Amino acid sequence: GDRGPAPVPARPSLAALRRALPDCRACELWEPATQAVPGAGRARARAMLVGEQPGDREDREGRPFVGPAGALLDRALAEAGVDRDAVYVTNAVKHFRFEERGTRRIHQRPGAEHVRACRPWLEAELAVVRPEVLVCLGATASQALLGRGVRVTADRGRWLDSPLADRVTVTVHPSSVLRARGEDERHAAYAALVDDLATVADALG
Ligand code: URA
Repeated sequence: GDRGPAPVPARPSLAALRRALPDCRACELWEPATQAVPGAGRARARAMLVGEQPGDREDREGRPFVGPAGALLDRALAEAGVDRDAVYVTNAVKHFRFEERGTRRIHQRPGAEHVRACRPWLEAELAVVRPEVLVCLGATASQALLGRGVRVTADRGRWLDSPLADRVTVTVHPSSVLRARGEDERHAAYAALVDDLATVADALG
């Protein structure tokens, strides 16, 4: 059944986390989802980027940020000058939460209970990777890691006070760029994301 604690191994490595994650029943999202989606990247990555949850494509493929939001993120990272190999990407919630409408699966934001249930995985990833730079993408990741006091619009692109890494910042979620209405708005939102990521590139030297 549901609601045991997340089965995070006592001495985690990325490989051990990856092996244990499929057995997680810490919330009910595991059941309708195709699979849990672990983070991706090297244990030695200097930066960790945290999104919200897998999307439709990620749920099917089992890898984070492989859908449209991921493509946009990859492009923005490249444009900002962040070395993709230096980056570990993961999500605040490891299962896709969706609503079925006919044959379509519509993304639903994870609830506070899903974020809370999934947090041990994120903490274990942080403990293994120990990134120099931590970047929360969007409100879900920001609140999961930094609490309710953080506001993406007010705090984006600045270094925030947090014990989680030497440098911690927030920016928008790449999906919000895709959702921006109108071409001008989309371009502006994209440019602002690249700007924030350029700050990360600077920090990585
Ligand atoms: N959106 C996310 O937050 N994470 C993914 O992995 C894909 C889309």
